[in-house]
Amino acid sequence: MATVQLYLDHGIRLISAAAFMRMTPALVYYRIKGIHQTPDGQIIAPNKIIAKVSRIEIARQFFSPPPQKIVTLLEQKQLITRQEADLSRHIPMAQDLTAEADSGGHTDNRPALTLLPTMIALKNQFMEQYRYPSDLCVGLAGGIATPESAAAAFGMGAAYILTGSINQSCVEAGISPEVKELLCQAEQADVAMAPAADMFEIGARVQVLKRGTLFALRAEKLYQLYRAYDSFANIPKAAQQEIETKFLQTDFETAWQATRDFFVSRKMPGQIDKAESDAKHKMALVFRSYLGRSSQWAIQGNAQRKMDYQIWCGPAMGAFNLWAQNSFLAGPENRRTADLALNLLFGACVITRAMFLQTQGIALPMGAASVFPMEKDRILALAGATS
Ligand SMILES: Cc1cc2nc3c(=O)[nH]c(=O)nc-3n(C[C@H](O)[C@H](O)[C@H](O)COP(=O)(O)O)c2cc1C
Repeated sequence: MATVQLYLDHGIRLISAAAFMRMTPALVYYRIKGIHQTPDGQIIAPNKIIAKVSRIEIARQFFSPPPQKIVTLLEQKQLITRQEADLSRHIPMAQDLTAEADSGGHTDNRPALTLLPTMIALKNQFMEQYRYPSDLCVGLAGGIATPESAAAAFGMGAAYILTGSINQSCVEAGISPEVKELLCQAEQADVAMAPAADMFEIGARVQVLKRGTLFALRAEKLYQLYRAYDSFANIPKAAQQEIETKFLQTDFETAWQATRDFFVSRKMPGQIDKAESDAKHKMALVFRSYLGRSSQWAIQGNAQRKMDYQIWCGPAMGAFNLWAQNSFLAGPENRRTADLALNLLFGACVITRAMFLQTQGIALPMGAASVFPMEKDRILALAGATS
């Protein structure tokens, strides 16, 4: 609620909502606040949400009007007016929705080829059912890294595309130069699922780079031990020793004190109290501190912790590297996010046109449907635009 209030105070009109399991009062409040009707009957909702989802049941909630139960609650709390509550029945929670297929970071590993058509069918069904004043719109994320994959996404009906993994190897990314080099060497199979720091106990996972780091293996070991034992003291001695010497690089109690200090600084005494009376929870917090710090080590480029780098990355990275090999985009120094995006979009146009011709029965010479990395100015010149 505090975050949403900040957005409203600053007039933020468009937000991305990802990893939601259900609609929350905060999200509904953001979407409804300020909704009004013009004299000619048009309904204007000034705050827009782009949802990012990988599951149908969540997509349904975003394509539906705000849930009545939450709307009533907000009205009772006088956060919204009766008129705002009434008008909210005519709008979807999100006008735009990104279907997220197998990707870097948090992912359900859904295949894009099956996920996107399902989401588009759902969109059509909701437009039919609710007759919203504006069209719903579905974009695609996950695995998009080459002109071919971008063309495929648009060919299947995506309204827009979104990349993640490849952006992290770009000049603008905040990750250390050492990690960008690792990312540029990655092949498609160099990724693995590993336990996530934020939802460690429930077994949530993130997709990470496995080449050049032992993070995925080590984090998995911690998760399996957490599941099997009630306390760190009950873990077999050899495993205890490995964790203390290699993973934590200090003894368990010292690691706990540092973890405890972290929760004190975050003003979260509840976590400390629980851990001090529940040895399994204490173990979870210490293990999670390793997982959390492993991302920081990768960002900082901490050389002593190279083997523990947690680097979110999906198979898109390897696909991009193969496409960009032997070109000016092979290393991280020339990878600029906007130039990568321009290459994918321009390449997708060329490939789509080539496919039109092929489906008309025209045989294209070998390589005519291939697009290789190009400098921005060259693309703009070819497209008849100026920079
Ligand atoms: C390093 C990294 C950090 C990310 N952080 C977020 C995030 O904070 N919020 C979010 O919604 N998605 C996040 N994502 C997911 C991306 O926004 C995007 O949906 C996904 O990476 C697309 O799939 P791709 O990795 O195959 O390109 C992240 C992805 C990566 C690789």
